[in-house]
Amino acid sequence: MKHIAIHVGKNGFHPNWRAYCLKNNIPFKNVDCYADNIIDQLADCDALMWHHSQNNPKDLLIAKQLLFALEHSGKVVFPDFNTNWHFDDKVAQKYLLELVQCPIPQNHVFYEKDAAIRWAKTASYPTVFKLRGGAGSFNVKLIKSFADAKSIIHKAFGRGFSNYDGFTAFKETFGHWQKGKSSKMDVLKAFLRLFIPPEFAKVAGREIGYVYFQEFIPNNDSDIRVIVIGNKAFAIKRNVRENDFRASGSGNIEYSKKYFDDKTIKTAFDIAAKLKTQCVAFDFVYKDDKPLVIEISYGYTHAAYAPCEGYWDSALNWFPGSFDSCEWMVDVVVNDIKRKKY
Ligand SMILES: Nc1ncnc2c1ncn2[C@@H]1O[C@H](COP(=O)(O)OP(=O)(O)O)[C@@H](O)[C@H]1O
Ligand SMILES: [Mg+2]
Repeated sequence: MKHIAIHVGKNGFHPNWRAYCLKNNIPFKNVDCYADNIIDQLADCDALMWHHSQNNPKDLLIAKQLLFALEHSGKVVFPDFNTNWHFDDKVAQKYLLELVQCPIPQNHVFYEKDAAIRWAKTASYPTVFKLRGGAGSFNVKLIKSFADAKSIIHKAFGRGFSNYDGFTAFKETFGHWQKGKSSKMDVLKAFLRLFIPPEFAKVAGREIGYVYFQEFIPNNDSDIRVIVIGNKAFAIKRNVRENDFRASGSGNIEYSKKYFDDKTIKTAFDIAAKLKTQCVAFDFVYKDDKPLVIEISYGYTHAAYAPCEGYWDSALNWFPGSFDSCEWMVDVVVNDIKRKKY
């Protein structure tokens, strides 16, 4: 086997990937995917692993394109096309999940203002409005009436939305500071961000010309996130914020196995198999006890999962104890290389 190339980013999975390669004598080399000579750097590599992020402006510009170009030319990549093409795009995910008959909330996307208004007149409220991109619940809102929906639709087909909602971010950081969970400096930075949006929001441009609504699934005081990597899965429960319906980004996480039923874990394995992904996180909410997927994503903040009590295999056997899910990603890549070669 030639090297596995690992892009060294500011944050992400790569320190764990490197440590695992070192421990197991898996040949690897660090590369800089932004460098002009990246293709030369990859000449002695069978694979590239890159934990790219929706909040990194340079990643937004080129991560998917470079990864797909490499995969197209025959190299193994992580995340690969099936894992990655819909990353940070909830509208793309809607089409994919419907096509593979994954249980999801009813939803509506419009590319014409008139059609959106016609639908909004007959819709039932509350309903959920989402931008196609974003994380931590920032771009997810509850719409309580036709009047609110109408003004969202006007904005969507007017000046559009920024990818970064500075006001919500400031409120959230301020709330965290009050609870001792963030520093004065974080509050100051969030305040300045009200006037100077982050670079990624400038690169991503405005969200404009479409509007996406999702059926509101009531009575969920949390969401359940299940991550499937190869034939292993692990899960967390995220409680919603106070007086809010949104869990993602609340920072209020539970890890005990008792919160995760076999039905949800099995659903996650079944859909991951249909999607043929290397790594996928499912966010579930429940409608009459039925798990519905509201979002999929290959990336996550690894540290937040360290307290997980164990993991399942695809036969739903439980393996108690700590584990490093980043290592499983390297295993997936090594297997993909072997499959391609022999
Ligand atoms: N259709 C829905 N019904 C009820 N709650 C929802 C719905 N969609 C999202 N949520 C809540 O909002 C949170 C954020 O939504 P999500 O689509 O996962 O966006 P993000 O990418 O910001 O995580 C979820 O964690 C969940 O608690
Ligand atoms: Mg989510």
